[in-house]
Amino acid sequence: MKRQLTRVGVLVSGRGSNLQALLDACASGSVPAKVVLVISDKPNAAALEKARAAGVEALAIEPARVGGMRQFEVQAVTALKSKGVELVCLAGFMRVVSPAFLKEFPGRVLNIHPSLLPSFPGLDAQKQALEYGVKVTGCTVHFVDEQVDHGPIVIQAAVPVLEGDTVESLSERILEQEHKIYPEAVRLFATGRLKLEGRRVRILPPSEWGE
Ligand code: GAR
Repeated sequence: MKRQLTRVGVLVSGRGSNLQALLDACASGSVPAKVVLVISDKPNAAALEKARAAGVEALAIEPARVGGMRQFEVQAVTALKSKGVELVCLAGFMRVVSPAFLKEFPGRVLNIHPSLLPSFPGLDAQKQALEYGVKVTGCTVHFVDEQVDHGPIVIQAAVPVLEGDTVESLSERILEQEHKIYPEAVRLFATGRLKLEGRRVRILPPSEWGE
């Protein structure tokens, strides 16, 4: 029996390279999921064009135009539900989602952050890591909870900080890893292999479904 593809909605604010990695992984068949809607809080986000180029519906909802973040979320939830979204991926979405939003998708919102959490949450994580002087940083895919960059960790990848690194060079190497671990996290979710135990995420062995 062929498994249904998990329906994914992606929230973005900018360039959309992680969105592209997810689109490519779904298109190649390596991730049994389908991006069915992309929403940006910024109408000029390049990510919206990437979505449209892949034939995915792309929606801009500007919080300032619709009466604030609460209204943004109300409209986003309506659109996501109308598309039957089962998993929401924040991919460079530079806003904090509220508990009310999370309640609509319990245990079904993932985020990617460019550091090894719990180190360097918040903005400019790569700059924070460089300035702190760590020798290893990286990226994290985690379930979103009510605190910023805090929820249960699904996958992390480590990236060494090199002597000559700038924020740009370090960010670029972290991004390469982001593009690997985000599709992998979605694959594990879509194949039912993520099990939450407190704040630990267990990765279950492949089942008899062939995954
Ligand atoms: C990525 O590095 C992502 O980890 C980061 O923004 C970038 C988005 O790039 N997200 C955060 O810092 C969230 N706190 P992209 O638009 O090319 O995917």
